[in-house]
Amino acid sequence: EKRISIAIDGPAAAGKSTVAKIIAEKLSYIYVDTGAMYRAITYKAQQHDLDLQNEEALLQLLQHTTIDLQPAEEGQVVLLDKNDVTTEVRSSEVTNSVSIVAKHRAIREEMVSRQQQLAQSGGVVMDGRDIGTHVLPNAEVKIFLLASVDERAKRRHEENSSKGFPSNLQQLKDEIAKRDKLDSEREVAPLKKAVDAIEIDTTSLTIYDVVDRILAIVNERI
Ligand code: C5P
Repeated sequence: EKRISIAIDGPAAAGKSTVAKIIAEKLSYIYVDTGAMYRAITYKAQQHDLDLQNEEALLQLLQHTTIDLQPAEEGQVVLLDKNDVTTEVRSSEVTNSVSIVAKHRAIREEMVSRQQQLAQSGGVVMDGRDIGTHVLPNAEVKIFLLASVDERAKRRHEENSSKGFPSNLQQLKDEIAKRDKLDSEREVAPLKKAVDAIEIDTTSLTIYDVVDRILAIVNERI
């Protein structure tokens, strides 16, 4: 059996990481959450009071930064310079600024090169915005996950509420729509379905429906 590369792209809060994690576990593949890498450098830049428009300064910072993603019971642990920042990188402060950091060409080039190294030996499920288009253009399976903004905001709202976090549905809708706009309209590697990606609209599907569909596609190609 071949150990292939699986690219999962799509807009914010479409369920990419949930689905990617389950698939990686079922196949005993590694899972790479590329969004967490952009979130980690954003968090560090904020800690250093850096101007997020300053591409040069951000690149300098990134070149002196290690970001490690480790599998854990509850998904994945994000290590920034060896420190656990798993919770910090999900804060709304990071979420609402990460797209500014991620638009810079120099930052993306460095991230893409790190991500390609992680995928080198195959057997990888990687989720993000540009995996099928730029990071792993030769991935055997490319999936583009979609869902309406309303559905995505509702899911995120329910997730927050179940964890006891404060959450405002309308605010989530606005933030998701804004992040999608920034990610789709940026100049460098915008969020876009690869021509050879299979689109799955998850609006009326459960997580397990989505996992089953993707596994069926994977099984045809290994
Ligand atoms: O996937 P997640 O929502 O955690 O991604 C956070 C942000 O990181 C995205 O909104 C986008 O700006 C950026 N990102 C990116 N390219 C990727 C993954 C994430 O630009 N491959």
